[in-house]
Amino acid sequence: MSLDFGPATGLSCRECGARYPLGPSFACLECFGPLEAAYSFGAVSRADIEAGPANIWRYRSLLPVPEDVADKPNMNPGWTPLVKAGNLGRKLGVKSLYVKDDSANPTHSFKDRVVAIAVEAARNFGFHTLSCSSTGNLAGAVTAAAARAGLDACVFIPAGLEAAKIAMARVFGGRLIGIEGSYDEVNRFCSELIGDPMGDKWGFVNVNLRPYYAEGSKTLAYEIAEQLGWRLPEQIVIPVASGSQLTKIDKGFKELVALGLVEDTPYKIYGAQALGCSPVSGAYKAGHDVVQPVRPDTIAKSLAIGNPADGPYVLDIARRTGGAVEDVTDAEIVAAIRLLASTEGVFAETAGGVTVGVLKKLVETGQLDPDAETVVLNTGDGLKTLDAIADGAAPTAVIRPSLDAFRATV
Ligand SMILES: Cc1ncc(COP(=O)(O)O)c(C=O)c1O
Ligand SMILES: [Zn+2]
Repeated sequence: MSLDFGPATGLSCRECGARYPLGPSFACLECFGPLEAAYSFGAVSRADIEAGPANIWRYRSLLPVPEDVADKPNMNPGWTPLVKAGNLGRKLGVKSLYVKDDSANPTHSFKDRVVAIAVEAARNFGFHTLSCSSTGNLAGAVTAAAARAGLDACVFIPAGLEAAKIAMARVFGGRLIGIEGSYDEVNRFCSELIGDPMGDKWGFVNVNLRPYYAEGSKTLAYEIAEQLGWRLPEQIVIPVASGSQLTKIDKGFKELVALGLVEDTPYKIYGAQALGCSPVSGAYKAGHDVVQPVRPDTIAKSLAIGNPADGPYVLDIARRTGGAVEDVTDAEIVAAIRLLASTEGVFAETAGGVTVGVLKKLVETGQLDPDAETVVLNTGDGLKTLDAIADGAAPTAVIRPSLDAFRATV
């Protein structure tokens, strides 16, 4: 089998630096640390990137994908709007604020980015079935991408997810298996399945394909910098479930600096969690390096990972860059969804309520500089978590079609 991962030359252990050949492996044999893609980048210019397609493949020379990736059947996510959020900024007292609206992806969450890379890895390794453990959004992104790529899908979710996420994951075909338990139990089950003949020929996007999949989140960093006119933002607020996305946005910013595509200016990274699943913000506030697993209980089900694989790296990055990790209650999440919608016309799922709610709290507690340029991520679509604002899903009044009746209500 001849592999083509473009500029990626191997896998390296994030803990001990041990090198491995490109393969469907994810843990270091020396120290059990996580493996990630290692590269040998050629020269890349802003002009090369700008001449590329209006999707993540404009950054293909920085991703573990073949050169002709754009010609293959894939969902082609990315290049989502960076919305100048003047109204929200004024409400929160933040001078220069942007919302990176990643609900504007093919299946309405940022997960399309990571899955797009995993599809290319699955093709490379000759896997015919695409799988994952999901908190909801990933399941839909995987079943859709599998349909487009002509692969089979079998995805696993906690049985108690939002109806819209279940419907979305099913409509694309493939098998959707609800597991009685939390996401962490689903994930453990998938790790077992990989070791069993039933699943050992499958590409689990966030398990045995994780070193490739995770790289997709770097494209958020690239896009934000390019959309700002090839600059890094001064502050960025990112939701944290496993913590993968946050660590890869940091990696993306560092690569842009190393490649001379942006100036080396300081940035602060802030992690955002729901209080009902806040193992990382809990550790941050307690000054701990170790993340104690929790049992999630929050309306932000997409972020409900109680034992986050990348939690310690999130702590490192928040502390190193001068950011923080903060959390908000379910009531604050709902209020933030309404605030973002009513100020900017962006309808976020609960994960977006978490980031906007945390942004508000960071300003109020003096942890974030209101005069510094700030980007807040919305990673998913509010139509997937309608229950969160169910009491706003009814008309403000129901009247007879008469002017008198209308006069009486206003
Ligand atoms: C909408 C949404 N935002 C953010 C995340 C967090 O991703 P990560 O696990 O990379 O921290 C998820 C993860 O499932 C998600 O569904
Ligand atoms: Zn190692």
